[in-house]
Amino acid sequence: MAFKKITSVDIAYFQSVDGIKAVQTDAEALENCSSDETEDLHYLPEVVIQPLTVAAISAVMAYCNEQNIPVTPRGAGTGLSGGALPVYGGVVLDMKGFNKLIHLDTRNLQVTVEPGMITQELQDLVKAAGLFYPPDPASKGSCFIGGNVAENSGGPRAVKYGVVKDYVLNLEIVLPDGEVMWTGANVLKNATGYNLTQLIVGSEGTLGIITKIVLRLIPAVQHDVLMLVPFRKAVAACEAVNAIFMAGYTPSAMEFMERDALEWSMRYTQATGISLPDDIEAHLLIEVDGNNMDVLYKEMEAIAAIVQRFDIDDILFADTHEQKQMLWTLRRKVGEAVKSNSIYKEEDTVVPRAELPQLLSIIKQLGREYGFQSVCYGHAGDGNLHVNIVKGSMSDEDWNNKLTDGIRKLFAEVVRLGGTISGEHGIGLVQKSYMDIAFNNRQLQIMRSIKQLFDLKGILNPGKIFAD
Ligand code: LAC
Ligand code: ZN
Repeated sequence: MAFKKITSVDIAYFQSVDGIKAVQTDAEALENCSSDETEDLHYLPEVVIQPLTVAAISAVMAYCNEQNIPVTPRGAGTGLSGGALPVYGGVVLDMKGFNKLIHLDTRNLQVTVEPGMITQELQDLVKAAGLFYPPDPASKGSCFIGGNVAENSGGPRAVKYGVVKDYVLNLEIVLPDGEVMWTGANVLKNATGYNLTQLIVGSEGTLGIITKIVLRLIPAVQHDVLMLVPFRKAVAACEAVNAIFMAGYTPSAMEFMERDALEWSMRYTQATGISLPDDIEAHLLIEVDGNNMDVLYKEMEAIAAIVQRFDIDDILFADTHEQKQMLWTLRRKVGEAVKSNSIYKEEDTVVPRAELPQLLSIIKQLGREYGFQSVCYGHAGDGNLHVNIVKGSMSDEDWNNKLTDGIRKLFAEVVRLGGTISGEHGIGLVQKSYMDIAFNNRQLQIMRSIKQLFDLKGILNPGKIFAD
């Protein structure tokens, strides 16, 4: 794609726009926006702009559209598919100034928030009013709600409460030509025309800049209980997941961790107080929540009885708040732990839940065939398995070429099982060359046409979702 390089005239224009906190071209600012949490990728923007008002974003977009300058919106940079990487340089629109809660509507159980608020902060603010916004990506302490909407993030609680899309009611966006619009209405039901709101959710910053988000909330849940179940066979852990759901239980988290995932996270977080016997291949971290402790204990006992039908070691029931925190920290830090250990590629496979045991076996079989080691963990209750392929001692040649074939084969198997190639991390940059596995030409053509309809010149987050 041929875009215009930014000149001093462009910079002077950006500086003249009202409602912009900073127009940065210094090396440090550019460097800070050149990567996210995806692998070890690195693309420098030409300028970083921190807008503070919708009008400022509108002015910047209209100008860039006219001048053919690429614009990449950026939240907290915690993404795992390279969605925030400015692969063609140009402008990074750094949304951290958009961090206000605009309106907490306790009459309707809704909140209107700007996209740059940290997800955990939003959860804490609504909790103080007795309300609950459930989606909880592993990075909830640092990621922004806007990035969560752009990627349609999930997290452990999705298994009971759904993902981000299940909470987004309405969005204000700035279109690539600078026009500002709302996508829907602040209502719980809406059968009025095409669902533009849900089109923007998960569109990875390619259709518009999200400037306001209206979310539905639910009443706060009072209690939860948590247990960690060690399995001697990893595939059995996956089988147990299904057995629990088929028995009629819906835990509020049902997380799978292969041995390496837990071990590396224990090392990374310097956790103590958990033993990991040699013969354990995987764990399930299972939480149930609700407002009646007696009911929760009964559910926990019933679930314990189900997992005991499999070959397991002693179940650890988390008794205290600290113990729960420790277990959740271990789980949430797996991604970082793997990253700190080796160069890696992360795949975000998802299959119908009952196919999970088969998916795990296929991953290990492909690893043997293609010579890669994988660390698998994730949201087993959703059939969503994060497959971290570590470079370890693989040669650069195998890593760069042979592995791509292995990943294609893995994705083909995932699709054959009725699944797809990303559950919650998005396609972004790193998965775009695999889109032909998940969609045929007609489907891709429809998507490309939608992109064109919003962004005729292709200036908004170019180089994402669609293969070059
Ligand atoms: C997690 C992130 C990687 O589940 O999605 O830890
Ligand atoms: Zn995840």
